[in-house]
Formats: sequence, structure tokens, C-alpha cells
Amino acid sequence: MAQEAKSAIVTGAGRGIGRAIALKLAQSSYKRVAVFDILGDNAQAVTKEIEALGGEAIAVAVDLTKCQQVQNGVAEVVAKFGQIDLLVNNAGWDKLELFLDSEEATWEKVISINFKSVLLMCRTVVPHMVARGSGKVVSIASDAGRVGSMGEAVYSGTKGAIIAFSKSLAREMARHKISVNVVCPGLTETPLLQGIRDQSEKAHKVIDAVTRAIPFGRVGTPEEIANAVAFFASSEADFVTGQTLSVSGGLTMC
Ligand SMILES: NC(=O)c1ccc[n+]([C@@H]2O[C@H](COP(=O)([O-])OP(=O)(O)OC[C@H]3O[C@@H](n4cnc5c(N)ncnc54)[C@H](O)[C@@H]3O)[C@@H](O)[C@H]2O)c1
Repeated sequence: MAQEAKSAIVTGAGRGIGRAIALKLAQSSYKRVAVFDILGDNAQAVTKEIEALGGEAIAVAVDLTKCQQVQNGVAEVVAKFGQIDLLVNNAGWDKLELFLDSEEATWEKVISINFKSVLLMCRTVVPHMVARGSGKVVSIASDAGRVGSMGEAVYSGTKGAIIAFSKSLAREMARHKISVNVVCPGLTETPLLQGIRDQSEKAHKVIDAVTRAIPFGRVGTPEEIANAVAFFASSEADFVTGQTLSVSGGLTMC
């Protein structure tokens, strides 16, 4: 008998790395993919791409920093797919600036989009996994969260928080057969990275300098990040939890 298609939620999947993850999953055993993004039109467009690949998809237009919207969105997925086998926390935002030039309003935005959204999604989705005694969570942090990054102090703090939170959640969830892992991209060619380059001439130069420091000599592609997520999401990683994998062309090696 054919195995029933598994279902996944990918946040921030309307473009960039999230879109690549959603498309990669749709070509794996996760044929049912929920595309969560604040940009509803983008999310809708990605569902069409998933359907063209033979998958089943729903677009959920949601601001992941708002608890009620997250709860409504997850309820919609449970109603449509019946279960959630995989949660990929990918949505994020960044602004390149020195910490002493940064302001509280920016910290609040960075913390809520990058970290609070992960807490809200996990708090809402993981109970469904606990009830079934299985599930996987993969969150996208950043090499900045492992080794720090000039001009990204608060961003790095939120990414370090994702790593520490995921290790703790992995310990709490192991008894329920739920794995929790983290993928850390280095520089990856997406609209976010282009937006940072476009912020200023200085930002452009910083990105160029970091690119030159990458041992493989280039930035990554969204598909290369998606491949690592697909591994953690696969049954081949069933005995892997609490781990952090950098996909950064060797930018960090610790
Ligand atoms: N691109 C890089 O160089 C790079 C490097 C390291 C880590 N990352 C991380 O990878 C992840 C994806 O980044 P990307 O480069 O694809 O970015 P992106 O800006 O291209 O895509 C992010 C997506 O998240 C969505 N989003 C943002 N805020 C949201 C909110 N409040 N509610 C719902 N959706 C929201 C955006 O609409 C967008 O579609 C982020 O967590 C980012 O921090 C990226």
C-alpha cells in the first residue's frame, strides 16, 4: 500500500530560501505543503509551483509575530491536511547597522520576526506532534548566530537564541519522538541579501568582503540550504536531534 503523503508547514516560504525549501519538500515525501508568509500573493504563487510539481498546497497569509494569526493559520492547516509532520521555521529579517547606531524599534522588529515567531509556531504546532507521538522541527538560524557578525548584533542574538532554544526543545521533545534541528545558512542569494546590499554603499562593500572570505569563494543558493533541511526532515535523520548544521561554503568551521 502506498504511504500517505506527509504534510509540512514552511514559514516565510513566499520567496527566497523558504520557497526553495517548500519546492524541495514537495518533491520528497512531504507532498502536502502549507506556505506561510506575510506576503499573501507570493505565498499563493508558490502553491501553484508546488501543484505543478504534483504536490498539494495551501497559502496562509499570516503575520508570524501575531499569536492569533499563527493559531488561525495552523488551525487551517490541521483542518485541510489532518496532521502536521514537519514544521520549518524559516521566516526572518535583518538590517545591517552597528549596534550603537541601532534603535529599540528595530530590535523589537528583529526579535519578533526572527525569534518570537519561532516560539509562537512551535507553541502552536508541536502539541499536535506530541498528540501523535511523532514529528520534526527544523529552524533556519544563521552562521551569525554561531560566531557573531559585525553590523548584525541583534540579528545574531536572535539566531543564537534559535540555536539554544532548539537544543532545549530537542531535549524536552525526545520522549515524544520529535526531533528538533537547526540549519545555519551563510550568505545566500535571496531578496533579503539583495535588500541588504541595496541599503547603502557600505553595506554592499561588507557583503562583498564577506563573500571573498568564504572558502568556496561564492554565496550559496537557496536550493543548497533546502537540501540540508530536506535531510533533517527525512527518515534518514530519524536519530538526529539537537544539531546545528552550517551550509555556508566553509565560512564557519567550528
Ligand atoms: N539570505 C541570507 O544570506 C541568509 C543568511 C543567513 C540566514 N538567513 C536566514 O534565512 C531565512 C530566510 O531568509 P531569506 O534570505 O530567504 O529572506 P527573504 O526576505 O528573501 O524571505 C523571507 C520571507 O519571510 C517572510 N516574512 C518576513 N517577516 C514575516 C512575518 N512577520 N510573517 C510572515 N512572513 C514573514 C517574507 O515576506 C519573505 O517572504 C531567514 O531566517 C534569514 O535570517 C538568510
